[in-house]
Amino acid sequence: PQSMRDGLSAEYHIRPLASTDLMRSHFHLLATLTTSPPIAPSVYAALFNHMKSCPSTYYILVFVERSTDQLVASGTLLTERKHVRGGGVAGHIEDIVVSPSTQGQGLGIKMVNGLKDLAAGLGCYKVILDCVEAKTPFYEKCGFFRKGIQMAHYS
Ligand code: ACO
Repeated sequence: PQSMRDGLSAEYHIRPLASTDLMRSHFHLLATLTTSPPIAPSVYAALFNHMKSCPSTYYILVFVERSTDQLVASGTLLTERKHVRGGGVAGHIEDIVVSPSTQGQGLGIKMVNGLKDLAAGLGCYKVILDCVEAKTPFYEKCGFFRKGIQMAHYS
């Protein structure tokens, strides 16, 4: 969305994730977020192809540092066509991460607000996300409010 480009420092540009972003520190960046061990290029390609085979579902946007051509931020919007709400579409924001050396420059809020705008443009009637307590002030600044609680089951 244009809102992500407005006011963005000339040091960075924004684009969708590319199939070649494994070599632009995509997994190194994701390791800031959670356990994200390195993967083989063939596995990365398979993940990318899977994403592309699900039309209108995965929207992964990245901020790229022009001087290094490395990813400094990433964020995902997933869309879910529901049976409730007359077949409405819900948006899920996932895996928001800004590289530690680039945090505090406003990229995180720009990413989340941009994904919200993207969701609105795609017709999502809501956008939801899960986060730990410590991140709630950040998401409140992005316009989110507390609703319900998260429950989890890991296999
Ligand atoms: N606690 C309180 N306030 C915060 C926090 C925090 N942890 N992080 C940012 N803020 C505030 C900033 O102070 C700023 O406020 P201001 O506008 O009043 O100055 C505002 O939120 C926007 O900050 P940004 O500079 O845009 O935030 P940044 O680019 O540093 O990105 C992020 C924030 C994404 C949380 C980053 O710190 C990060 O990548 N952390 C590690 C990974 C992570 O926890 N990601 C979120 C997981 S939840 C999910 O993905 C759905």
